[in-house]
Amino acid sequence: MSLVEREVDVHHGWESSAAHSLKNLPQPRPRVAPIPLVKLCYTMVHAAEAVGIRDLADGEYRPSDTTLEQGIERQLNYLLDEVGCTRPGFRLLEIGCGYGHLLRLAQARGAEVVGVNLSPEQVQYCNEHGSRVYCCNYRDLLDAHEWHGQFDGVIANGSLEHWVQPEDVIAGRMNGLYQESFEIVRRLLDPHVEEARYVTTAIHVKRNVRPKDLLTPWREHPRGSDQRHFSLLHNWMGGYYPIDGQLEQCARPSFTLEAEADGTLGYKIANDYRMARMLRGLYTNPQLVWRLARSLVRHPRIARTMLECYYLEQSWDWQFRGDDPPMKLLRHTWRRAANG
Ligand SMILES: C[S@@+](CC[C@H](N)C(=O)[O-])C[C@H]1O[C@@H](n2cnc3c(N)ncnc32)[C@H](O)[C@@H]1O
Repeated sequence: MSLVEREVDVHHGWESSAAHSLKNLPQPRPRVAPIPLVKLCYTMVHAAEAVGIRDLADGEYRPSDTTLEQGIERQLNYLLDEVGCTRPGFRLLEIGCGYGHLLRLAQARGAEVVGVNLSPEQVQYCNEHGSRVYCCNYRDLLDAHEWHGQFDGVIANGSLEHWVQPEDVIAGRMNGLYQESFEIVRRLLDPHVEEARYVTTAIHVKRNVRPKDLLTPWREHPRGSDQRHFSLLHNWMGGYYPIDGQLEQCARPSFTLEAEADGTLGYKIANDYRMARMLRGLYTNPQLVWRLARSLVRHPRIARTMLECYYLEQSWDWQFRGDDPPMKLLRHTWRRAANG
């Protein structure tokens, strides 16, 4: 095949990226209201932004690292490599983009980026720092036809833990929600881009957990028990975790699992950095104290739960501590199936 024929005949992702622009995507029409507890949790978490905590997922650390951000950037660059965002013009969507660190790294690689996020505080931060982010529930994208087929890759870094609630598990909707999320991503990816990928990171639970325990007030569970930590976490953040293999089962037939990496230790180290900064901030950062106090006045019940969960019982950090932590963090690279 001559060079000219190759240029004309072979369809690569970047040809379609030149033809489209992500700049004109309309705000998705509301289809499913965001879960109030999840939305409120990120209003509370915004207090941590006062001490510069704008990275809310796991990291990947080397012994020589000395900051939270070093491990975070290594992990984010891994995700970008995995999704194939290695060339200018790559069209990337992040679902649940937090404060937009991954989007900005992708832009530095020359990518066109879009984020969706249900936290108004985070969306405002992203849009003020040069990324295009829409405030909506990712579930609104199922019917957002103008969005369909527009992306070369999609990443969900630490957001899918919020997509299922214990009430969904009790009602038998858990797998259906994961299946719907894969269907949404399948629609978002450009069908002409052969190498389109979806990359997720998600906490997985290793121990037996009953949805009923999460809905029981934590004070009714024995101190230090799994049930008490699970209930505290749910009542602050709203969510439920998959077990090993569950996502793979729900991905079929649209996606196959191409790679899996364990990031449990990296999550623990990132959490240690965050806890140290949050503790120091209580004594040294009036803005942090002011934001926490304001949350206590505006949302007393949830704010008390957050303080109890994070600082006192340290349920967030409990998840990754010890020789055999109750959770593991898995990074998954999904490849769209040939018939997907
Ligand atoms: C743990 S944070 C991770 C944020 C970011 N990816 C990072 O690494 O810092 C989870 C993010 O998912 C977002 N999120 C959770 N559920 C969502 C939903 N249903 N639709 C859109 N965004 C969601 C939250 O607002 C938050 O930004």
